[in-house]
Amino acid sequence: MDFKAAIAQEIIKALGESPLSQQEIAGFLEVPPDTKMGDYAFPCFKLSKALHKSPMMIADSLSSTIASPLFARVESVKGYLNFFIDRATYAREIVESALSAGDKYGADDCGAGKTVVLDYSSINIAKRFHIGHLSTTMIGASLCRLYGFFGYHTVGVNHLGDWGTQFGKMIAAYKRWGDRETVLKGGVDEMVKLYVRFNAEAKENPALNDEGRAWFKAIEDGNAEALEIFNWFKEVTLKDAERVYDILGVKFDSYAGESFYNDKMQPVIDELQQKGLLIEDQGAKIVDLKDYGMPPAIILRSDGATLYATRDLAAAKYRHDTYNFDKCLYVVAYQQDLHFRQIFKVMELLGWDWAKGCEHVNFGMVSFEGQTLSTREGRIVYLEDLLNTSIEKARAIIEEKSPNLENKDEVARQVGVGAVVFFILYNNRIKDVDFWWDRALNFEGETGPYVMYTHARCCSVLRKAGAQQAEPDYSALADPEAQEIVRLIEQFPGILHSAMDRNEPSMITRFSVDLAQAYNKFYYEHKILGEEPGVQAARLRLTDAVRSVIKEALWLISIDAPEKM
Ligand code: ARG
Repeated sequence: MDFKAAIAQEIIKALGESPLSQQEIAGFLEVPPDTKMGDYAFPCFKLSKALHKSPMMIADSLSSTIASPLFARVESVKGYLNFFIDRATYAREIVESALSAGDKYGADDCGAGKTVVLDYSSINIAKRFHIGHLSTTMIGASLCRLYGFFGYHTVGVNHLGDWGTQFGKMIAAYKRWGDRETVLKGGVDEMVKLYVRFNAEAKENPALNDEGRAWFKAIEDGNAEALEIFNWFKEVTLKDAERVYDILGVKFDSYAGESFYNDKMQPVIDELQQKGLLIEDQGAKIVDLKDYGMPPAIILRSDGATLYATRDLAAAKYRHDTYNFDKCLYVVAYQQDLHFRQIFKVMELLGWDWAKGCEHVNFGMVSFEGQTLSTREGRIVYLEDLLNTSIEKARAIIEEKSPNLENKDEVARQVGVGAVVFFILYNNRIKDVDFWWDRALNFEGETGPYVMYTHARCCSVLRKAGAQQAEPDYSALADPEAQEIVRLIEQFPGILHSAMDRNEPSMITRFSVDLAQAYNKFYYEHKILGEEPGVQAARLRLTDAVRSVIKEALWLISIDAPEKM
């Protein structure tokens, strides 16, 4: 039931003749901050002009006229009409609507016919996937699910970092010291070793750098050998990354990275030139952004080389031409705030109207147990190691808590991975994250395992009860604990919309904790099984709704919820 529509209808009935439509009245209804002021409130000043009466008088008169079994009471307070929905009706309507919608509860088709491109994860070739990439990967993956949930067509793009002089150096190093077998066996680690050795030896022997540059030029010029080696590096990197994506359950629709735009930049450069935006600065070609309080966007270096920004301009245009997107989201760390402000400004100056749909979804840094990560200083945590350790730790906890669990391996995987993902998606994305094992894997805190455990608890209660139940007596859900759960479930659709509007999956993560806590409170205060049949049935319906909503919430943040733990 749509409570707002129903209340609006009651107001119209009481007014006799209404200056506002049912839809207008429903739109003015507010949800009071405190439930002491009712479930919904209507600000009567919206009617005072048309009725030539004070809000107080209108509220007084309406409160005595409105009579419907939908309301436990209607109060007039300072020009507001406060509606208290009958507790049993409130619980029945919300629990049943959540259950009948199943895993689509809260969905609508506001995104139908629209496309959103999500640029996320976007790893760099010949570097291993480390925990610094976890936020972009999981925020991006979750936003893909969330937009898809609301009917958007989503295109997930892994904008690979596969361009730059370092790749020339890597080929030079490979030609000197590398061999196929070793790189095949060692994967990205072996490539990194070659690169590190190159840089060390180049310090002694700077001529090596010329060799590196020559190989980079060879890639650019399409030299067959250079391309063959480079593409093979790419393959090896992606094979390594794919293992991590598999563990995380992440998939992409496109891997068009920086090098994909090699032949797509010239038209953009020409357009910049034609529109008089490109100016010469010490041999380089730049777009001046002084008027906007930013350093210039460098489009071409003095040696004619293109830059990261040039590629991003070409990429935005390509995505627009190819996908005709409504939105293009860049899930990239806040270190690149300036870069995105610059390229968005350049797109605006170019008159690319559609660029309004581009948005930088930025996020904070990840550190590990109090230490910032640094590749240079060797303080680095590889994602694959982190996830595998988490799975092992989860497995040990399960072994201790539920030694008789059937599919321990699968559950350990779900809990171990879920704990890490949940931790990363728990705070507002702009905050820095400090990853701690004992905080991520704690079964009692505000963690993934805690929420998953609550889901499994609901499943267990429902299993024990069996399918055959009496007619639920919803008046049994009038207690404050049950009502708090119902209130949270009612808010869920709105939270999903806000999470999408703000590109903030953490709103869903937090919600799942609130709901889990509310259910556990209810669970400790109230008996479920063995109660009088109507009461038991109502509490089971509530339990089932909590199970379903938690599962859905976790799915939206890319976490699987096991039924037994
Ligand atoms: N590869 C880049 C990095 O690791 C991120 C790329 C983000 N996407 C983009 N279109 N610029 O920093």
